[in-house]
Order: sequence, then C-alpha cells, then structure tokens
Amino acid sequence: MQSNSLLKSSKMQTQILKINQAKPQISIIKQAARLIRKGEIVAFPTETVYGLGADALNPFAVKKIFESKGRPADNPLIIHIHDKEDLKRLARDIPEITEKIIEKFWPGPLTIVLKKSKIVPKITTGGLDTVAIRMPKNKIANLLIKESGVPLAAPSANFFGRPSPTLAKHVSEDLSGRISMILDGGKTKIGIESTVIDLTRKTPMLLRPGSITLEQIQKLLGTIKVHPMIKGKKSKMIHRSPGMKYKHYSPNAKVILIEGSTQNVDKKILQLVNKFKKQKKRVGIMSTQKNHTYKADMTRFVGSSPDKIAANLFKVFREFDEGKMDVILAHGISKKGLGLGVMNRLDKAAHKKIKV
Ligand code: TXA
Ligand code: MG
Repeated sequence: MQSNSLLKSSKMQTQILKINQAKPQISIIKQAARLIRKGEIVAFPTETVYGLGADALNPFAVKKIFESKGRPADNPLIIHIHDKEDLKRLARDIPEITEKIIEKFWPGPLTIVLKKSKIVPKITTGGLDTVAIRMPKNKIANLLIKESGVPLAAPSANFFGRPSPTLAKHVSEDLSGRISMILDGGKTKIGIESTVIDLTRKTPMLLRPGSITLEQIQKLLGTIKVHPMIKGKKSKMIHRSPGMKYKHYSPNAKVILIEGSTQNVDKKILQLVNKFKKQKKRVGIMSTQKNHTYKADMTRFVGSSPDKIAANLFKVFREFDEGKMDVILAHGISKKGLGLGVMNRLDKAAHKKIKV
C-alpha cells in the first residue's frame, strides 16, 4: 500500500499539447521553452522521430533525460541547434570539410560528431570527449530551440529498448508520467533517426545510416568509410559509437529477417508460418508487398519503397507488440539509398537472419 502511494506521488503530470506542424503556435512553443529553461524535459517532433529535449548544457536537466527513458549513462546524446554558428561554441578543432557538409545538409537529418568544447558537460556526451550535433529542419523543433535560448540535448523519446516514436501517442505510451510535456505535432515525416557521421578522424566515417544517404555523402566528399558494424561485421571500434551496442527493438517477439528474391522470400515465409502455427505461436508478418496471401495472425504492409517503409517501420513494430506476437517475419530490402538505414534498423531488431 505504502509503496504504491509513494509511486503515485512521484509521478508527474505530463501535459500533451497539440501544435500545428506547418505553422507552430508561438504561445505553445513559449510554454515548452519556459519548462526547458527551468531544467525540465519536453518531448517534441523532429523530421525524423520525436525527441526528448532538455538544456544540453545543464547537467541536472540532462540527468533527467537519462532517468526518464532508462537510458544507460554511456550512451551519448545528440545536441540540437537552430543556428549553424552555435557549432563553434559546442565543438573545437572543427575540420574544414564540416562547412561543406552543413551547407549541403543542414537543417536536416544529419548528425555530425566533432571534438567537444569545454562548455558541454560530460554527462551529455556519455563521458566521451566528442559531441554529436544536428540542426533539425522541423519547424516546431527549430522554434523550440530558438525560444529556449539553449541547445537541446535530445535522444529519441522512447523508453530504452522500445522503437523510436513517430507519433506523440508513442511518446505518451512510453513516458507519460515521467516527463513534463509532449508537443503533439502529428506524424514525423522520415520515420527513422538521423544519419550520424564522425568527422573527428582523417576520413569521415558513417556511424548510423539514415535518410541522408551514404551515396549522397560520398558524392559530396568523394570518400567516406562505413563503420564495420553497419556492414554486419564485429568491431573493436564499438566505443566510437556506443549506441550501436544496444539493441533498438527488443520485444518479446523474435524478429526473423528474410532476405532474397521476392519469390524465395514468399516461399520461406509460407513455410515458416506453417511451422510456427503448428507450434501454436502467434505470427506477425511485416510485408513489403501489398497483395499477399499469408495466413498469419497479423500482417502489416509497411510500403514497398524505402521511404514509405522508413516512415511506417517503428509504428508497425509497436503494433506487433500490442498484438502480442511471438514471432515477426520481416521482408528484407535492398541496401541502396535509404534502404541501408531501413535494413540497419531491421538488423538491430533481428533475432535471426535468413538468406534465401
Ligand atoms: O533523428 C535523430 O537523431 C533523433 C532526433 C530526436 O533528433 N535522435 C536520436 O537520438 O536518434 P538517440 O539518442 O536515440 O541516438 C543518438 C545516436 C546514438 O546511437 C549515439 O550513440 C550516437 O548518436 N552518438 C551520440 N553522441 C555521439 C558521439 N559523441 N560519438 C558517437 N556517437 C554518438
Ligand atoms: Mg534512440
């Protein structure tokens, strides 16, 4: 009884405010900014996924981010800015190519890793001497950073281990009662998190693929390395990107990722559905084909192009969770363009991979 009431009294009220994505109401932005300045945390939409923002330079506020989402302390946060000039305050020894990169891709879904300046607290960077920075394109995000007057540290606004939120509803499912406010600006456009590149080494390195594609960066820079783990290899360089060691989506369901020609994948799925149904398992299928004939407990068409799949992926993951699936069979796609980002998220979720 007593612990129950203690639990209740420690819960805070989470305010959920609807806000217009195209023309954000400034009065609502101001309310959120006031909370940020007081050291509170606020969830807000970006063009990729919802973020959980706090004053990046206030260690007490940043601590609340880690606590509320149950995030391990060694997994660093991305700092969001609204003005390119802010880069100079947060980073040092900025290499020349940075200018070229941000001219082309900012504001937008690209995060760059640089050496951190003294003003960035270690808690924000998970103890690293580097800092990840991005300038989002979403108007709500942009105005919120501007009105707050401070850079915002913001990881994806999900509870640790859950898929990133693409709707305000996903944020409240995970974090209601744990954060001060959620700005509900509707569905996020891209659906998977930003591309991350490390600029602290001689040759830039892709640490997380996203909707600014490897091909686009290659075209601009001529050369970029790809972190071995993105290529499915084991690596001693894990410390360069701590986020990689954590599984992003770890539901009760076992995700099986099946790659190959449409015909072969279909055949394999039919075979596996039969096998799992005999074992009385609940089977979900994440399909990239509209007209399917699977007899599973739940089939979700995620789209057939990489941009549609990216936009729907995390929402569908959550739907399978709600449907209490034991197994999820997922179609693999080509790793070209945005496909590399989509496959990276599926790879991280997968319990098993099958090539047919
Ligand atoms: O699209 C996004 O990037 C979203 C929105 C809210 O902006 N944010 C996001 O944050 O995805 P989060 O915390 O879920 O992912 C941040 C990733 C992690 O994989 C982390 O390890 C990596 O960025 N990261 C952050 N700081 C780093 C650093 N100094 N060096 C290497 N990787 C870093
Ligand atoms: Mg995340």
